[in-house]
Amino acid sequence: MRRGEKKTFQSTPELDRYHERIAAYHLAPLWQRLGSLLTPEPRVASKPQLWHYDGLRELLLESAGLISAEEAERRVLILENPGLPGTSAITETLFAGLQLVMPGEIAPSHRHSPAALRFILEGEGAYTAVNGEKLPMHPGDFIVTPSWCWHDHGHHGSGPFVWLDVLDLPQVRNTGAIFFEEYPDLRYPESRPPEDSFYRYGVNMVPVEHRTSGTKSPLLSYPYERTRKALENLKQHSPIDPCHGLRMEFIDPTTGRAAIPTISTFIQLLPTSFESDDYRSTDGTVFCVVEGTGTIKFGSGSNHIEFRYAPRDIFAVPCWQFHRFAADEETVLFSASDQATQTQLGLWREQRGDYAAI
Ligand SMILES: [Fe+2]
Repeated sequence: MRRGEKKTFQSTPELDRYHERIAAYHLAPLWQRLGSLLTPEPRVASKPQLWHYDGLRELLLESAGLISAEEAERRVLILENPGLPGTSAITETLFAGLQLVMPGEIAPSHRHSPAALRFILEGEGAYTAVNGEKLPMHPGDFIVTPSWCWHDHGHHGSGPFVWLDVLDLPQVRNTGAIFFEEYPDLRYPESRPPEDSFYRYGVNMVPVEHRTSGTKSPLLSYPYERTRKALENLKQHSPIDPCHGLRMEFIDPTTGRAAIPTISTFIQLLPTSFESDDYRSTDGTVFCVVEGTGTIKFGSGSNHIEFRYAPRDIFAVPCWQFHRFAADEETVLFSASDQATQTQLGLWREQRGDYAAI
């Protein structure tokens, strides 16, 4: 047998009996499993999927009449990938959910070992508080809740307030290191002025006594007003990447690394009529449409899947899945993936090119 040829072995009664005997000792033959454990390329269970916001919103609002935010702890509809039923995961490594807070409600304070992010979709007048710092939330804002930080949410405005939650929960769950704790009161005491972290770390300065842990970004909020201005300015002068358009990463300004150690987060702009090249990477990614309409296409020919996207729609792009964008209008996309984890482990790969030619 030459190297590279698929290995087959002849089952014999002796070998079968041997397999049965070793199973009693909690042993298994690697020669039977090697092919499924070490595949030439990634094989993941998650599938491309898009959730239209209009339909989601209607179902989410219905839950407000059935359960309060306090009763629910968090009134969240989990976006569960159809290829990962029962796992509460949108990709192999990320949890995503749509959270609703109604006027006057408080989602009680708690903390957990998985880190979280909020990406705001709809409403005015709500806040999230992280370790006693109140952070106002506006559509398009990206807010970080680092691992094991107390957090609660409240809403002083009118109308429903909705955001996308993304957590590294499946990654942390795989390590076993899940911890969760409820704060004894509904709210953690307000111990720092509103937006304290932004003025300490978000204006290109850092307090001289600051020492970074490297695991928790001290900057908690990335307001869309600034993000959008950055994109608008850059699009005048920057080359457009054939796969990503104009793409920027949110970072911890004290380390230059990802804003969350286990989750990379990005904002990208696709110009009007932009058609991207095919692209795939090993980080399964959650996208949220901020502005614009267009199409995302997976694969090609008879195997292709195509989704139309509009503002606030959310879609999952699995690991190593070729995809391409076609923007009808100028499009802004927020995205989150486990690229940060994979990069730290030396695992991350990408491929650009013509899918049909590969
Ligand atoms: Fe939480």
